[in-house]
Amino acid sequence: MKPVDPTLLSTDRFLKNIQGNTLKGHGRDYTTHIFVRFRVNRGKTTKEWIRTFAENHLTSIKKQLEEREAFKKDKKPGNLFASFFLTSSGYEVLGFNDVHKRFKDEAFLKGMKLRKGELNDPDSRRWESGFRTRIDAMILLADDDKNRMGEFAKELIDTLSTFCSVCGVEYGNAIRNSAEKGIEHFGYVDGTSQPLFLKEEIDEYYKLHNIDISDPKSAPDFDPSADTDLILIPDPYAEQNDSKPALGSYFVFRKLEQNVRQFKKAEEIVGEDLFPDLGQESKRELAGAYLVGRFEDGTPVMLDDEDSIPNSAEYNNFNYSKDLSEGRCPHFAHIRKVNPRTSKSSEKMMARRGIPFGMRSVDTELEPIMQQMPEAGVGLLFMSYQASIVEQFEHVQKKFSNDPSFPEKNTGIDPIIGQSVGSHMDRTYQFPKTYGTASPSIKASFRQFVHMKGGEYFFAPSLTFLKTVV
Ligand code: HEM
Repeated sequence: MKPVDPTLLSTDRFLKNIQGNTLKGHGRDYTTHIFVRFRVNRGKTTKEWIRTFAENHLTSIKKQLEEREAFKKDKKPGNLFASFFLTSSGYEVLGFNDVHKRFKDEAFLKGMKLRKGELNDPDSRRWESGFRTRIDAMILLADDDKNRMGEFAKELIDTLSTFCSVCGVEYGNAIRNSAEKGIEHFGYVDGTSQPLFLKEEIDEYYKLHNIDISDPKSAPDFDPSADTDLILIPDPYAEQNDSKPALGSYFVFRKLEQNVRQFKKAEEIVGEDLFPDLGQESKRELAGAYLVGRFEDGTPVMLDDEDSIPNSAEYNNFNYSKDLSEGRCPHFAHIRKVNPRTSKSSEKMMARRGIPFGMRSVDTELEPIMQQMPEAGVGLLFMSYQASIVEQFEHVQKKFSNDPSFPEKNTGIDPIIGQSVGSHMDRTYQFPKTYGTASPSIKASFRQFVHMKGGEYFFAPSLTFLKTVV
């Protein structure tokens, strides 16, 4: 394991050539995603525009990390952040005819529309209109200054429209709970468990969890430190040079709509059925924690009161080896399905970089009541970077979340993101009746409240490629 230390000069060239948001999230509160389709006869102009945009606006991971340091030191806000992504059709329209030879990932080569059979996705004819057509590229803008980003996006869309078609624009905006932690729309803190690549982040993780890595007796129960090759691969179209590697990453984008009011209602009903003796709020909270694997504030349901861990909301140093009978965290819980925390499943981890979409009439920081929760128009723009879409994102969605027999027979489909063919999938689950004790367990059902509205598979090329593309 070689953690990346950006303070070392030797990492400079490598980090300057990789796009930002990869080894660490950009951390901005607002995003704009512009989806474009190139015109076949405008290849030269398009490439010229890509070179200029890369030179003037794209943010390298090096620059992103420098801006973060400046913010930590003297609160200097970061600049507008920008990234650029291509689909396999995008490469082809730009004249790269051997894309099928250069890229190995079948999912990337086919695109998300043709992979619906793998993932049980709805037919692309039923996706939102912007995603139904061929998409060649996506530009991601991110900023804490919403107006600055809005102005920039407006000019950019204007310029792009002169030589290609803008097929859709999506907007993300971070939302927070009353403790000011970033959450997703169902109200759960999100983004806690990530693969960590940077030395500083890994050291922080060990410190937070009281792990002395030099002492074999204090070995972590879960170690998220990862090599960069978990998400980075040599850019197939950039000249490779040992002293100046040019790396890129496969990128998944999925628009997932969440029916918040019905989800919260269902949590309440399950809580009422299962734990009639608990208080009103505790019933719902425990039902939700069993479904997600963490309480809303982020505390893992694996942690017992007796574990009494400070900062339990950020706690991540656990695995399920002491809970094989699933008395604490059911096998079907979202986080246990998508990452069973075995050495094999750690290879499937992705750098998740999602952001919620849709505006709420009542701010989530005010803890809205049921009647104030939306039933549509909000959700998650799920995004992830990985070295292989087939082996990471698709494996997790298909072989973990969608498979009711994973990790064991009768586990059930992932109650948050599991997708089945049609709507006949049995969505009943065995919940532990008493926390910590697997039996007796009680059955309760839980419908699907997350719906896929469209998306695409991309590659985030190296900056070396984008600055020189001809
Ligand atoms: C609207 C859809 C989704 C919601 C509401 C959601 C919610 C959450 C929450 C609350 C967490 C716990 C916080 C954390 O550890 O970061 C989490 C973790 C996670 N989610 Fe999701 N998620 C969604 C979609 C997805 C999708 C599409 C995937 C991949 C196919 C995914 C994969 C993961 C992974 C890998 C983790 C970390 C698990 C761990 O390492 O313990 N999620 N999600």
